[in-house]
Amino acid sequence: MHGTLHNRHSGFFITFEGGEGAGKSTQITRLAGKLRAEGHDVVVTREPGGSPGAEAVRHVLLSGAAEPFGPKMEAVLFAAARSDHVEQVIRPAVERGVIVLCDRFLDSSRVYQGVTGELDPEFMRALEDVTVNGMVPDMTLILDIDPELGLQRAGVRRGEGIADRFEKETLEIHQRRRAAYLAIAAAEPERCVVIDASGSPQEVETAIETAVFAALDAQGIAVAQAVGD
Ligand code: TYD
Repeated sequence: MHGTLHNRHSGFFITFEGGEGAGKSTQITRLAGKLRAEGHDVVVTREPGGSPGAEAVRHVLLSGAAEPFGPKMEAVLFAAARSDHVEQVIRPAVERGVIVLCDRFLDSSRVYQGVTGELDPEFMRALEDVTVNGMVPDMTLILDIDPELGLQRAGVRRGEGIADRFEKETLEIHQRRRAAYLAIAAAEPERCVVIDASGSPQEVETAIETAVFAALDAQGIAVAQAVGD
């Protein structure tokens, strides 16, 4: 284990957030490649899922099987999956000094369940406290895109496939989610960086790299420190 670069751990935990078709998975793959090329130890993961227990719950959520039981039920299931993922995968990796890149995390619950699911903010905060259990991201990249463009892109990516439970919702709901993400970014500027995801994949990649390398430098996470664990 490395010396105390942060007060709670030695790795770095980055989450990617945004609406459908913002290009999160493409960008995570690219950033992971870049970080590894620079000698960093990287773990790529996603939610819902990322650990065997959470992957089991993922299917229940994305198939829509929990939808009839209401947003509160879905919020608790997302939380159950997150708790397992945090304790089985994210925390151990960060404590080993790894850079963890996670496709969606707590802000997805705040936005999808809290805001557009219209759940009580007190309930959402309590759930978040117990599931995240201190593992708040060091950095959150919010890939911001007009939902009309995002859904168009998600449709292209899916091809003839079937839209999942969350992609099927109305444009108005997707617009509320975009606004909710931007409100989180405005409220927590020390953690969140808004990335314009409407550009080409190369433009988005450059914006992300600039933000991430600046944050790693600011934390004193040099290449050599991440190698050889
Ligand atoms: P996924 O197929 O991983 O889609 P995406 O490429 O959009 O990330 O599906 C995840 C879906 O689950 C997505 O529509 C957002 C939703 N979700 C929530 O509603 N709450 C959550 O806490 C998380 C993690 C995801």
